[in-house]
Amino acid sequence: MTQKLTWKSIFGCCNAKSHLKQTSSLHRRLSLSDVSDPTSPLSVDDLSTSILGSKLHVFTLAELRVITSNFWPSNVIGEGGFGKVYKGFVTDKLRPGLMAQPVAVKTLDLEGLQGHREWLAEIIFLGQLEHPNLVKLIGYCWEEEHRLLVYEYMARGSLENQLFARYSSTLPWSTRMKIALEAAKGLAFLHEADKPVIYRDFKSSNILLDSDYTVKLSDFGLAKDGPEGKETHVTTRVMGTQGYAAPEYLTTGHLTIMSDVYSFGVVLLELLTGIRSLDNTRPGREQSLVRWARPLLKDQEKLERLIDPRLEAQFSGKGALKVAALAYKCSSHLPKCRPTMSYVVKILESLQGFDDQLVVPFVYVVPNEKNKYFEKEEGKNFY
Ligand SMILES: Nc1ncnc2c1ncn2[C@@H]1O[C@H](COP(=O)(O)OP(=O)(O)OP(=O)(O)O)[C@@H](O)[C@H]1O
Ligand SMILES: [Mg+2]
Repeated sequence: MTQKLTWKSIFGCCNAKSHLKQTSSLHRRLSLSDVSDPTSPLSVDDLSTSILGSKLHVFTLAELRVITSNFWPSNVIGEGGFGKVYKGFVTDKLRPGLMAQPVAVKTLDLEGLQGHREWLAEIIFLGQLEHPNLVKLIGYCWEEEHRLLVYEYMARGSLENQLFARYSSTLPWSTRMKIALEAAKGLAFLHEADKPVIYRDFKSSNILLDSDYTVKLSDFGLAKDGPEGKETHVTTRVMGTQGYAAPEYLTTGHLTIMSDVYSFGVVLLELLTGIRSLDNTRPGREQSLVRWARPLLKDQEKLERLIDPRLEAQFSGKGALKVAALAYKCSSHLPKCRPTMSYVVKILESLQGFDDQLVVPFVYVVPNEKNKYFEKEEGKNFY
C-alpha cells in the first residue's frame, strides 16, 4: 500500500519562516504540478495543514463578509480577469499573529475565464516566495465553489491607474525611475531563484504601489516554473496580455525568462511615454506602443518627442537616453539580444536619486557621444 504524502511529511514540521525563504537550499520549492497533477501524491486538501497553511491564514467566507462589509459595492477597488477586488479591514482580534490592517480581497468570478488553477498558482507561488517587491499574500478562502485571496492593501493601487487614469496627477521622472527599478528587482528575484520563476504577466496593472510608491508585483496566477535541466524553455498554451507578450512566445508558445524581459521593456516604454502598450484610440500604426515607438528610440530628435509631455521637460536628458537604450534592448524581437534583469537593475540603479527640479530641459549637446548608450545589437549599429 502506498502511503499518502503530505506537504508536512516532505518538508518536516518546524518553524515555517525558516524554510519558506527562497534562499534556503534545503527544501525544494513546491510547484503547481505537485498539487494539481492528478497523479501527484499531494492533494489540495493538504493546503491548510501544509507549510503554506502555517504561513497563510485560512479565512471563512463569513469572516471575509465581515472584513469587506458584506462585499459592499463601494468597497470595490478594481476588477480583472479573476474577478472583483474589495478593500477590507482586518482587526487584530481575528487571528493570533494577524495585525490589524487594511487588506485587498480578490474574489473569483464564478462566471469568469479564470478559476481554481489561477487561484492555486497564486497560493503556491506567493505562499513560498518572499521579497520586498512582491505583494504579500495574507491568506485565502476556499468554500465550496468560492475562491478568494487576501493581500496586503497597496494604497496607490496599480501603476496603470497612476500612469493612465484621466484625473491622476503626473508621476515625476524620479518616481518613474524608482518604480522601474523596484519592479526590475522583483522580476530579477524571480528569475534568479534557485528554481527560477517566469512571471508571464508583467504589465502596469500588476505593478502595485504603496503610499510611498514602493512597488510590489502581484498576480501569480499565470506564473510558471522555469525550464529544468537541459531544457531552454517551457512550452505552454499562450496566455498573458496583448501588448505585453513577447513575439516569440505568441508565435511558438515557448516561454523563457526573456519573455518577461520583453514585457518589462514594454512597461519601461509606458513609463517613458505615458502611453498604453495598446491604445486603439490612437491612429492605426501608433496603436501598438512597441511597434510605433521602438524605432524612434534610436533617433535622438524623435526620442525627444516621444517622452511624456506631461513631464514638462522635467527629466534628465542623459537618464532618458539610457532608459531609451534599455527599453530598446529589452523589447528586441530576438530574445538573445535582451539583457538579463540583473543587468537592467544595474542600469536603473545608476539612474536613481535624480532631482526633477534641478534639471535643464532635455537637449542633446554631446554629438560625439551620441552612440554611447546604444550598443551593437543584431550585428548592426543603430546609427
Ligand atoms: N493588493 C492590492 N491592493 C490595492 N489594490 C489592489 C490590490 N490588488 C489589486 N488591486 C486593484 O485591483 C485591480 C484589479 O486587479 P487584478 O489583478 O484582479 O486585475 P488586473 O491586473 O487589472 O487585470 P488582469 O486580470 O488582466 O491581471 C488592480 O489594477 C488594482 O487597482
Ligand atoms: Mg492583476
